[in-house]
Amino acid sequence: MTDILGDWKRTHYCGELKAADIGKDVVLMGWAMRRRDHGGLIFVDLRDREGLAQIVFDPEVSRDAHAKAEQIRNEFVLAVKGTVIARPEGTVNPNMKTGEVEIRVDECRLLNPSKPLPFTLDDYVDVAENLRLKYRYLDMRRPAIQENLMLRSKVSQITRQYLTEKGFLEIETPFLTKSTPEGARDFLVPSRIHKGQFYALPQSPQLFKQILMIAGFDRYFQVVRCFRDEDLRADRQPEFTQIDCEMSFIDREDIIRVMEGLIATIFKQAKEVDVPLPVPRMTYAEAIRRFGVDNPDIRFGLELVELTDIVKGSGFKVFAEVAAGGGIIKGLNAKGCARFSRKEIDDLTDFARIYGAKGLAYVKIEQGQWHSPIAKFFTEAEIASMNQAFGAEEGDLLLFVADKPKVVNDSLGKLRNHLAQLLGLVSKDDYRFVWITDFPLLEWDEEDKRWAAVHHPFTAPMDEDVEFVESDPGRCRAKAYDLVLNGNEIGGGSIRIHQEQVQSLMFKMLGLAEEEARSKFGFLLDALEYGTPPHGGIAFGMDRLIMLLTGSDSIRDVIAFPKTQKGACLMSEAPSPVDQKQLRELGLRVRSEDAGN
Ligand code: AMO
Ligand code: AMP
Repeated sequence: MTDILGDWKRTHYCGELKAADIGKDVVLMGWAMRRRDHGGLIFVDLRDREGLAQIVFDPEVSRDAHAKAEQIRNEFVLAVKGTVIARPEGTVNPNMKTGEVEIRVDECRLLNPSKPLPFTLDDYVDVAENLRLKYRYLDMRRPAIQENLMLRSKVSQITRQYLTEKGFLEIETPFLTKSTPEGARDFLVPSRIHKGQFYALPQSPQLFKQILMIAGFDRYFQVVRCFRDEDLRADRQPEFTQIDCEMSFIDREDIIRVMEGLIATIFKQAKEVDVPLPVPRMTYAEAIRRFGVDNPDIRFGLELVELTDIVKGSGFKVFAEVAAGGGIIKGLNAKGCARFSRKEIDDLTDFARIYGAKGLAYVKIEQGQWHSPIAKFFTEAEIASMNQAFGAEEGDLLLFVADKPKVVNDSLGKLRNHLAQLLGLVSKDDYRFVWITDFPLLEWDEEDKRWAAVHHPFTAPMDEDVEFVESDPGRCRAKAYDLVLNGNEIGGGSIRIHQEQVQSLMFKMLGLAEEEARSKFGFLLDALEYGTPPHGGIAFGMDRLIMLLTGSDSIRDVIAFPKTQKGACLMSEAPSPVDQKQLRELGLRVRSEDAGN
């Protein structure tokens, strides 16, 4: 049944036909959707990446085309020749871009049939994601995914154009390389030639872009794949794309200005959204104090309230003991939530427990009174102070967590986002950016009993804090900054260490013996000694950015071939076992107890 294209050339995309095209002879090619037989007439929606057009087969126009149309099933690929005509009165479809016109078909070629699909392509029908990913080529025919990937392509173009105009050079860096630490595990690639040795796929091009600065390229960018073997979530993939940038002879202000300009340009050109510049800033300390997290969603209030001083001497043992032990007590006012049932409050408590809270004390403000199992432990003065701190009003629900600062901030910060979702306080079309600055340089890793870099080991300490790097590491702030959009970290960067002694000191602080530092990063330490300019940069998470621009719930919806939460590609069935021969060539053997795990 297959006809080849012959001398037919497509004249238009289906989705671009308009009333102005009425009377034109066209050739369209695409996929059939929804064939409807109406007496003699057969209607088919023909779909390509630009949209749908209604094509009409009339036996009185062409008996042959009509006979072919009778064979058409969903997702058959066709080519049709015909004339654009106005739809008869009363049949105009205002919900369809091409709803004013239809195509009267003179000739039809059935290019290829399709088996019945395993699921419908209707955007509004929920299909199990595993099935969608197994048949990703069908899933990607859905207009929503097509639009996501088309927007993604546009954002790449806008990015390249903007950065090129600003003097950035696009330079590629290797994938087969040495470990670049960004806090995740490496994906390793065994070397056949050097048996027993491995390349690591880059977690980011961090060291290479710094070395490009040392080489004198001055401004670099790359839209680049990064690889991280970490636990996956809705906003993380094992391979993902960064818009990666680095600049020389600049300070933090220069980078922030150029980069917020990039983001504003992307939002304007891709989405017609105006991002007011400059983007507001907040220090890390302020973000933690007010929102509990370093990626605050500032579309809504529900800010955290510090209560330690008010309750440390109170009769509520839990609070008094936590305060005495160096912990803190904070709360948040869930406005108008006194109506929550016992069950709803228990659910909030369970939610807070995920982040380590031992409990979630609560108070309902009803008839001007505190209604709460803990009300009896507080004096009137304490209650009045707390009411004032919370801005408490009739109908409010006050929630409290007492613990170590990390647990309190984490649990209340996450609870705050959770409540905003529950209460419908956020809109996807409201884009609120904030730069978070002045991150700590180092944090104590309880598990490994050592200091770890908060950003990465190449981030410079603030000038005024350099002297404390060794004596009081916890107090040092870094020249690091993140760009946060609606509670999502969409980019992060820093001014780098450009002096070898400072870099060596940093490695020492991170517990790397000199030998180990040399074996891992010797090339960087060497390069730093040959005239390294002051430099810094940033990387944006392209997938997250597109996810937010398109209002998608998962980054899997903006990546053509994403992996599941378990790191599998269900379509190609990667990862998969390999031949014994291949393993032998690589000098590898799979331990039998690990096979298949
Ligand atoms: P960082 O590790 O913060 O910085 O990464 C930059 C941005 O990349 C995105 N991102 C991810 N997106 C999807 N899946 C993942 N697994 C994932 N991990 C990170 C985030 C993040 O903000 N070399 C430094 C940048 C620099 O210092 O210039 C770096 O990689 O949106
Ligand atoms: P209890 O004294 O354990 O019965 O707790 C009384 C109330 O305080 C309950 O609502 C608990 O959920 C809450 N609570 C217990 N521990 C904490 C804590 N560390 N922080 C906040 N509330 C807590």
